[in-house]
Amino acid sequence: MKEDKRWLRSFRLAYEGILYALVTQRHMKIHFMAAFAVLIPAYFFRLSKPDTLWILLSVTLVISAELLNTAVERTVDLAMPRRHPAAKAAKDAAAGAVLAAAVFAALVGAAVLYEPAARWVSGVPAQTETASGRVWIAVAAAALAVTALHSRLSGAHYKKEVPMVDAQRLLQLAAQARSQAYAPYSQFKVGSAVLDSDGTVHLGCNVENSAYGPTNCAERTALFRAIADGVKPGNFAALAVVGDTSEPISPCGVCRQVMAELCPPDMPVIMGNLSGQYRESTVSQLLPGAFGKESLRGRTDAKASEEARDE
Ligand code: THU
Repeated sequence: MKEDKRWLRSFRLAYEGILYALVTQRHMKIHFMAAFAVLIPAYFFRLSKPDTLWILLSVTLVISAELLNTAVERTVDLAMPRRHPAAKAAKDAAAGAVLAAAVFAALVGAAVLYEPAARWVSGVPAQTETASGRVWIAVAAAALAVTALHSRLSGAHYKKEVPMVDAQRLLQLAAQARSQAYAPYSQFKVGSAVLDSDGTVHLGCNVENSAYGPTNCAERTALFRAIADGVKPGNFAALAVVGDTSEPISPCGVCRQVMAELCPPDMPVIMGNLSGQYRESTVSQLLPGAFGKESLRGRTDAKASEEARDE
């Protein structure tokens, strides 16, 4: 009984993996549509058993390759959240497997369907005596259709996935970024790592200047870098900052103002030092009553109505 349940559970988890890929991967949706585009004529053309098996093999191969590609992508994102040549190589190779499978499927589709399609176009009836594969085509199409429908119904569940904020890992990445700091004047190196809502981590360090004023703190470097890399303001999930302080480091006022501008008010800010101590706060706790765009809009609106009155 227990064994039975375990078997069912692993089957359900595997099916959930397919739903996850179907909801989150645009290419998986394309593969499903391509599969229907091949299976429907294959059903009506009454293909022979070997031809049917070739079609089913190609559909399975493409979907399996895309599932493995999704698994590789998620694993690489976990192991290396920022850009890295090895991460790129792993993802590109996995995508290459999908491409190879898709090219194979396209060739099989063309080879198998060309003749019956040409016959159908010229009005010659299908060969009824070689219809033995039809039932399997119908079974495969039904399985794909049920999965596709189920993925549409349960889509929100998979899309809701938010990146997990792993404080230790983010601090570790911030400490890594710290080694890049340019701090010849203060000798005080700071590193920061900001996690965006898609799960990508952006790193920053302090960059000083002989004129002192133009110095950029690590937190702002990380945030500005993320924005420059295409992250939309507000799409941040957490920020970590590390410095060589006796207590966990505390961000400067300018950085708090920048966080208030770009990050959600309840976003966690993780502050650490090199001895591994850290404390957590939020953007709004670090800068209560921040001056924000609402204040600016209030003033603009007031000014506009004043001007309107004067006219
Ligand atoms: N600094 C940061 O990068 N982040 C902070 O939270 C505090 C201060 C930098 C700015 C400057 O390069 C150096 O630390 C000393 O103030």
